[in-house]
Amino acid sequence: MRVPETKLSRCCVVILAAGQGTRMRSQRAKVLQDLCGRPMIHYAAQAAQSLQPERTLVIIGHEADRVRESLQGFPVEFALQAEQKGTGHALMQALPALKDFQGDVVVFYGDTPLVTGRDLEAVISGRERSGADLALLTAKLESPAGYGRVVRRGSEIDCVVEESDATPEQKQISEVNPGIYCFRSVALRLAMQGLDNRNVQGEYYLTDAIALLRKNGRKVVAVPSAQPENLLGINTRADLARAAKQIWLHRAQRFMLEGVTLLDPDSFFASHQVKIGRDAVIYPNVFLEGTTEIGAGATLFPNSRIVDSRIGARARILDGCLISESLVGEEATVGPFAHLRAHAEIGAHCRIGNFVEVKNSKVGDKAKSAHLTYLGDAHIGEGANIGAGTITCNYDGFSKNRTFVGDGAFIGSGTELVAPVRIGEGAYVAAGSTITQDVPPRSLGIARSRQVNKEGWVKKGDKKKTADK
Ligand code: UD1
Ligand code: CA
Repeated sequence: MRVPETKLSRCCVVILAAGQGTRMRSQRAKVLQDLCGRPMIHYAAQAAQSLQPERTLVIIGHEADRVRESLQGFPVEFALQAEQKGTGHALMQALPALKDFQGDVVVFYGDTPLVTGRDLEAVISGRERSGADLALLTAKLESPAGYGRVVRRGSEIDCVVEESDATPEQKQISEVNPGIYCFRSVALRLAMQGLDNRNVQGEYYLTDAIALLRKNGRKVVAVPSAQPENLLGINTRADLARAAKQIWLHRAQRFMLEGVTLLDPDSFFASHQVKIGRDAVIYPNVFLEGTTEIGAGATLFPNSRIVDSRIGARARILDGCLISESLVGEEATVGPFAHLRAHAEIGAHCRIGNFVEVKNSKVGDKAKSAHLTYLGDAHIGEGANIGAGTITCNYDGFSKNRTFVGDGAFIGSGTELVAPVRIGEGAYVAAGSTITQDVPPRSLGIARSRQVNKEGWVKKGDKKKTADK
């Protein structure tokens, strides 16, 4: 839903993201924690972007450089909060940049990743409708613990009291402050001037702006949220897991609407850039990461991870595969337990079987490598057959060398192809060979010692040479 242009042009957004997030118990700043394949702060930045604001300011402090870097490509600016003295103090850092701005300022926290553009629009239109100086979204929660409580006097808000400062009676209040505010810019400047840090935590609370504005005779209204499930604040790993669950489920629902069958939507994990064609069937515990694309009608059996790869139409990925930066052609079958990596390109109708690893290699259409094989830095021609236990010896201790197997060639089981080496089109390599020289087209290469049978070697009654029964 788009808000009309006139309204949008007047708003600026401030995202508070300077805190460390002590309760995460992490080396990493909280807003950089991975949430379903992207840093948490991306979600807030994206919600802000959907308002098409005049400016978006991100307040950074803890790991400032990393946060800045992670937002590359987003149309945001940064203000530094060198010392983290509370959410109110963080917001004060935005004031110089907003000095001449007269419109609405939407403020929310970088640790509230499920917030959508619609939620932000709701608080803006709530402020406009009521003509208030400050509007905040509120949510009624069954377990309000951890949130600031909204203390009302009739229909008006008196103040928001932080959990650590709340009386036992105030703790019973189920209406909470999820931290999504819309200020008239004059009111914002007024409120920021009056903040102090006289509270249990010794911090400048942004939430004190409410009581302050009320004291100054300004109007503060609550806008009850239509979707309180979007307003979850992430403070702990448990919160992070709850948010992740919602995001995964949301993506699952979207794909099902687009015609993808998910055997268990509760166990579907796809990054936000993933694309999946119609009639694809996805079993539980498949992880689709990065820019992965799954073709129409493909089937992904359980327990695979597919990263930055493309799977062709109607291909089948059998159980337990790891596929990264690779391509799988139409109607190919891969797995179970195969590993494709670093630009493996598997042609159409190929069969790559169990315990086969393919690295930086191109496997032509209809070629087969069904068991226990390593193909590295190789070109495998169309329709070639790679026997069980084949190994391309691509590394000589100094550099990687290429192996070439021509179209329709047949490599017997247990073969070592010592690169650089070429097996010509339609050639055969005998099982158990260690091939160090090229094999010309349509020839047979054998490179193993001839078998000698010593008949009668085990003499009757010779206990040592008779296997124990
Ligand atoms: C805050 C609210 C609380 C609300 C809850 C909703 C205050 C005082 N309290 O509490 O009423 O119910 O969010 O989730 O605002 N930050 C800075 N600089 C700082 C401190 C924090 O930028 O000095 C940023 C953090 O990076 C974070 C956000 O502000 O993204 C919120 O900080 P956090 O400490 O999580 O606040 P809560 O205790 O959750
Ligand atoms: Ca928080």
